[in-house]
Amino acid sequence: MRTTKVTDGVFRLSANVSNILFEGMWQIPNGVAMNSYVITGEKAAIVDGVCDWDGVPETLYAQLDQMEITIDDIDYVVVNHMEPDHSGWLRSFRELRGNDYTIICSKKAKPLLEAFYDIRENVQTVQSGDTLDLGDGRILAFEDIPNVHWPETMATYDTKSKTLFPCDAFGSFGAVSDDAPYDDTLTEEHIEFFEREMERYYANIVAAFCTPVRKAIAKLAPLDIRIIAPGHGIVWRSDPGRVVRSYKRLAEYAKGPARPEVTVLWGSMYGMTQSAVGTAIEAIEAEGVPTRVHRVPETEMSFVLDSVFQSSGVVLAMPTYEYKMFPPMASVIDEIGKKRIINRKAFRFGSYGWSGGAQKELMEMNDRLKMHWDWVDPVEFRGRPTKEDKELVSERAGELARGVKAWALAERPA
Ligand code: FEO
Repeated sequence: MRTTKVTDGVFRLSANVSNILFEGMWQIPNGVAMNSYVITGEKAAIVDGVCDWDGVPETLYAQLDQMEITIDDIDYVVVNHMEPDHSGWLRSFRELRGNDYTIICSKKAKPLLEAFYDIRENVQTVQSGDTLDLGDGRILAFEDIPNVHWPETMATYDTKSKTLFPCDAFGSFGAVSDDAPYDDTLTEEHIEFFEREMERYYANIVAAFCTPVRKAIAKLAPLDIRIIAPGHGIVWRSDPGRVVRSYKRLAEYAKGPARPEVTVLWGSMYGMTQSAVGTAIEAIEAEGVPTRVHRVPETEMSFVLDSVFQSSGVVLAMPTYEYKMFPPMASVIDEIGKKRIINRKAFRFGSYGWSGGAQKELMEMNDRLKMHWDWVDPVEFRGRPTKEDKELVSERAGELARGVKAWALAERPA
């Protein structure tokens, strides 16, 4: 990786990471970029950092070398967010550097610095409205943006270049090439790739915090922002408003409606529930509503969450298993509820053998997690669905699709 210049006095340093599960659980087949930024006035600050995985801090130091800056030239380390994908390198930095520099962070970050890295000295806390003068007319301003994505998170704004460093906010999955890390150096096709990676990143990492996202966007709105330089993904230099609009739209999706689409999640033990899945898909698509279809548990949770987050309607096709829901589906629904993906239009059908039970547990989970999903009447069949059962599945799936169309298009015209 190599250092690139964002604008005068602002430089991007970055490491791409792949072959890991992000946060220990989310698949990232396209990798993810961890971005840091060096801002120079008469003094130098590094904003955001990288994880401590093998070789990653060293990648950062090598990029400082390219700038002909040594770690001894860094006067301030600005920690916008304490999650270790951004703060993990601090231990290595302190080992190399000692502690004759100042860490700038929010008040809530300070106890985590101690708990994570045993860092207690030379920590200066800031809050909304505070500034840091780097000299040469470069003043950094700080704004608390709590819960985007942890409570201690803040954003840093360079008043000279009008660059916002919001860490996780406005970020995305996807490894970024050194040759084209900026929206003005990417083709439209590549930008759309990062927007898709942004949607899955948002569904996995940020979805539970949509209200804080809306508040953060409102708080930052008065700033004259010319560049958005997030902790993950590409830098928005020619059209920062585009990523703000995307995040606004995604922040609305959690409470619905989202896109006028239906996600079909299905799981089946011996093919009986499965035999009605095609019928449901056909009925939904016959209404002109696109479907996204995922088998559970074969589809990894990261992709299931992304799909449900973006769909206004959900079909859950699953059998009863030991008087309860098919366990992998129960696990998926539990995570959907905890991510606060609420107010979906939904329909469930499935098979049972000796006894039902899945439907009862599903409704209990819907209530316990306060999901407020609006359900079409379920269809349950003993064993393999009959022709009449399939006709009922088709009828109810069509009803769901019509409901999704009316709701999503009324509130969010295409
Ligand atoms: Fe990229 Fe919440 O860390």
